[in-house]
Amino acid sequence: MRTTLIKNIKSIYGITNNADNAFKKGHQMKNVGIIHDAYILFDTKILEFGPMSDCPDRADNILDGSDSILLPAWCDSHSHIVFAGSRENEFVLRLQGKTYEEIAKSGGGILNSAEKLQKTRPEDLYRDAHKRLNEVISYGTGAIEIKSGYGLTFESEINMLKVIRLLKENSDVEIKATFLGAHAIPKQYAADRNAYIRIVTEEMLPYIATNNLADYCDVFCDEGFYTVDETDHILQKAANLGLKAKIHANELANSGGVQVGIKNNAVSVDHLERIGMEEIECLKHSDTVPTALPNVSFFLNIPYAPCRQMIDAGLGIALATDYNPGSSPSGNMALMMAIACHQMKLTPEEVFNAATINGAHAMEIQNTHGSITVGKAASFFLTDNIPNLAYMFYHFGANHIQNIWLNGKIQNK
Ligand code: NIG
Ligand code: FE
Repeated sequence: MRTTLIKNIKSIYGITNNADNAFKKGHQMKNVGIIHDAYILFDTKILEFGPMSDCPDRADNILDGSDSILLPAWCDSHSHIVFAGSRENEFVLRLQGKTYEEIAKSGGGILNSAEKLQKTRPEDLYRDAHKRLNEVISYGTGAIEIKSGYGLTFESEINMLKVIRLLKENSDVEIKATFLGAHAIPKQYAADRNAYIRIVTEEMLPYIATNNLADYCDVFCDEGFYTVDETDHILQKAANLGLKAKIHANELANSGGVQVGIKNNAVSVDHLERIGMEEIECLKHSDTVPTALPNVSFFLNIPYAPCRQMIDAGLGIALATDYNPGSSPSGNMALMMAIACHQMKLTPEEVFNAATINGAHAMEIQNTHGSITVGKAASFFLTDNIPNLAYMFYHFGANHIQNIWLNGKIQNK
């Protein structure tokens, strides 16, 4: 395998010198390992890095990183990038005063996307999702979790998961697949929710488990969607088939979603816009990763998850884009992180850890991704000429990523 050496890098952020992949909590979220005037040597994995005074003089390929900073690729632990069509008409309706819930109740929202997806050929779904994957790579993303949930029929949910599997096979991005058949109740089951839930638990889940089509099972546990008891039932069925939980919770109401997620040992509970002290206390006594999605608060004009309060209470958090057509039509991690700094009052170091090592934990890939560590995947990016990490979120909206390597392979922009 050919080796590459990048010399004269202004600063490398996110280094750990040993196999310290620990989840960062509370005040630890402010700690970011940095070396200035540095080099990195890699093949598909990181071989070594350090100050220029220790720089080796040999490699198959030598590059100059002057003026750039180097960061581990972002770990985006919550997305829905397989979808059909778009929903800008709903965006305009919301600007005119309609709420997300009103639009959903009148058959828009997730059901609108499901109707479009059911009419779309899998090859077209794949083509569009692949394009979105390349888009997020250009923003610096090196690992991403992708959910189903716009199919809502056996055939369409399985098609979505097969598209995700194809993306895994054809990309250098590390991908985790999540089954979200319980995203909404399809119209035709409105009068008999249990009939659809039976299809999810007795038809979809067993097929998905047998064919290894998903790593996790998710449920949208919220007012107007799935109740706590329904969520508990679905997650238990999934656990019996070997699928761990991830959950959409407390976006629209204080739904009890956090508690049912923790009860089912969820890897992460995501959204959290409407949580209080009780949920924060429960999270402190669990290994579940609280994951906030600032784009949703920005785009739907709803409260932000209380991340400042959560970190000050000693919790660690992950941050993700939730890239989807309804509540976050953006997969730009740095823009999302800038929103988190400005609106949640998080520091650049805190959002950095939330989007790298803690995001890796939310996908259980902390041993291979999320930091600059010898032996981890060579998945990182060099920026354009910016002075430091804070500048990235200060000059928000610009794409500062110049070159990105995933598993040591440079990606075309
Ligand atoms: O994470 N909240 C539930 N699901 C998605 C949005 C779904 C949609 O509106 O299409 C989310 O926000
Ligand atoms: Fe989501």
